[in-house]
Amino acid sequence: MKKEFNSEELTIPTHVAIIMDGNGRWAKKRLMPRNFGHKAGAKVVEQICEDAYNLGIKYLTVYAFSTENWKRTVEEVTGIMNLLRNYLKDCIERASKNNMRVRVIGDRTALDADIVERIEELEKMTAQYDGLQFTIALNYGGRDEILRAVKKIASNVKEGTLDVENIDETCISSYLDTNDIPDPDLMIRTSGELRLSNYLIWQLAYCEFYFTDVLWPDFTVEHLKEAILHYNGRDRRYGGVK
Ligand code: FPP
Repeated sequence: MKKEFNSEELTIPTHVAIIMDGNGRWAKKRLMPRNFGHKAGAKVVEQICEDAYNLGIKYLTVYAFSTENWKRTVEEVTGIMNLLRNYLKDCIERASKNNMRVRVIGDRTALDADIVERIEELEKMTAQYDGLQFTIALNYGGRDEILRAVKKIASNVKEGTLDVENIDETCISSYLDTNDIPDPDLMIRTSGELRLSNYLIWQLAYCEFYFTDVLWPDFTVEHLKEAILHYNGRDRRYGGVK
C-alpha cells in the first residue's frame, strides 16, 4: 500500500536541491523546439517554490544553467537567458508577495550586464525576506565554484589576511557561493539521469539523492511529496553508526 503523506509525522528536509532535467525531451515529445520545454520548466519552478514552502521546506536550490550549458546552440542559450531575464524581472513582485528571498550562485562574469543588474537588484530587494530561501544556480559549476574559492583563499593567504593553519572545512565552505546557506539534505534529479553533473559537489557530500523518471515540466507537488517520503525512509548516519 502507498504510504500516506502526513507532514506532521514526517521529517521535512530543510534544504532541497533540484536538477531540473528533461525539458528538451518533454518538448521533443510534443514536436516542439527545446525552448518550449524550458519555458514550461520555468513555470514549474514558480509553482514548486510555493509548494515547497507550503510543505515546510526552508531552502530550495535549482540548477538553471551550468558552466557546461554554453556548449548548446546559440538559439537555445539565448532562449534560456531570455527566460531568465523575464523570470528575474517578474520575480521581484512575486518574491515580495511570498516573502521569498532570492540568491543567485555561479560565475556572473560571463553573464550579460543587464542580467547581472537584475540579479543584484533582486538579491538586494529580497534580502530581508524570511520565507522560502530560493537559490538559482546560474552559470554554475561545482568545480568552478571550488576553483574560484581556492583562488580567493590563496590570495588571502598571500596578502596575510588568512593563516594556512586556519583553513579547515568550515573555512572552505565560507569561501563558496553558498556560504550563508546550509548544505542540502535532499537532492532531486528528474528525467531518469543518474548523474550529479557538477552540481554542488562540495555541499552534497552527505546529501540523500532521489532520482525520478518524470521530466521536469511534468514535475508536481505530488512528485515532491514522493521524494520526501523516500527521504524519510533513509537512515542518515553521516559516516557514523547508529
Ligand atoms: C535541463 O533539461 C534543463 C536546463 C539545462 C535548463 C533549465 C532551465 C529552466 C527550467 C528554465 C529557467 C529557470 C528558472 C530558474 C526560471 P535539458 O534541456 O537538458 O533536457 P533534456 O535532457 O531532455 O535535453
